[in-house]
Amino acid sequence: MENFDFQAPTNILFGEGQLQHLPRLLQEHGQRVLLTYGGGSIKRNGLYDEVQTLLKNANMTVIELGGIDPNPRLETVKEGARLCHEHDIDVILAVGGGSTIDCSKAIAAAYYYDGDPWDFTQKRELATKGLPIVTVLTLAATGSEMNGGAVISNMETKEKLGMGGRALIPKASILDPTNTFTVPRYQTMAGSADILSHLIENYFSVTEHAAVQDHVAEGLMKTVLHYTPIALEQPEHYDARANLMWASSLALNGLTGSGKKGSWSCHPMEHELSAYYDITHGIGLAILTPRWLAHILNADTVEKIAAFGRAVLDVEWEEPWAAARQTIQRLYETFVAWGVPMTLGEVGIDREYLEEMAEQAVKHSTLATHAYVPLEVKDVQAIYEACLTPMTFTE
Ligand code: NZQ
Ligand code: ZN
Repeated sequence: MENFDFQAPTNILFGEGQLQHLPRLLQEHGQRVLLTYGGGSIKRNGLYDEVQTLLKNANMTVIELGGIDPNPRLETVKEGARLCHEHDIDVILAVGGGSTIDCSKAIAAAYYYDGDPWDFTQKRELATKGLPIVTVLTLAATGSEMNGGAVISNMETKEKLGMGGRALIPKASILDPTNTFTVPRYQTMAGSADILSHLIENYFSVTEHAAVQDHVAEGLMKTVLHYTPIALEQPEHYDARANLMWASSLALNGLTGSGKKGSWSCHPMEHELSAYYDITHGIGLAILTPRWLAHILNADTVEKIAAFGRAVLDVEWEEPWAAARQTIQRLYETFVAWGVPMTLGEVGIDREYLEEMAEQAVKHSTLATHAYVPLEVKDVQAIYEACLTPMTFTE
């Protein structure tokens, strides 16, 4: 295990009815709130009205920034920072999924920065200070509710890049599983694929003997695999939604990634798909992950892939190659069973930009040097190519 510095300072209020504590959580930072949200789901399911009533009864001043897009845009960040200055905002309240929370983090940092907030994606150390953020999570997926990361898109340059820092970790997050009852099927499976991917990215690291992290990750992955089909069939199943929600937060709050070195593999590849085609992040990850595992399967990785399958996907083979192949097959079939579109063509991506996206993925990351198995442009391109056709397996 590597040395690490772990902090998970977010105050989590978990469970049905926790929303009542929202005014108190906000008032720790002030009375003037920027309320951020997405395209309207919170208006349709009543959460918006509940929040407004609570804040009004607490005599808080609320300025709104709605309409935050999935894959949030740089322009929205600038608009949010402008609103914070104009209205002398004390605290940002993000009510939504990862996109709303990420956008709010970038706004929080932009408030204290005179330059272009896109700079945060180029120099992480610039985001050292931020307005306080409180979140009400509505979609189990990114873990943004309990970490300092954010991903912002610049549609003009077709770039989607990460930024972040400890100053941007939400001060408090309300995790009420009932707020995810209305998440549509497509976003539910995308969210679960994202949670799994965060765990898989950390699990496959060159660092050995990080058993605590790996076994925690295995438990979380099994939980996601168990409860996702239940949530898909019964969207209002409280315990399914509750377990997915808590798994979302624990999968990316540093718990399973601290003490492991190296950089992620599927996320940098997926971010190019989203940057070029504006696709749903988790779906892109589901498509990529089995092809990536198939691409990196070799004598050095076979044992780890087999161990993953035995621990998480009920693979019973003793022999590592058979076990590893079955692991990849089971993972792929799991996504198929959920109903995920498993080829790039099904999400509107053809061959045209595969090479360009592969170049960008390598340029924007340390894939070629620090990934679990280093991936050069030709590797990324081969993985993208493999995503054009369904995977086939021979027993
Ligand atoms: O916009 P609204 O109308 O609210 O609808 C959203 C959106 O269309 C809908 N939705 C959310 N909660 C709902 C709901 N619909 C009905 N009922 C509810 N309760 O779901 C759609 C997707 O929302 P979004 O916030 O985009 O999804 P997600 O949470 O998956 O966030 C994705 C973004 O987070 C980034 C991704 O790259 C992507 O930009 N990530 C952020 C990370 C982080 N900060 O740590 C890590 C991740 O790896 C990821 O990259
Ligand atoms: Zn992700």
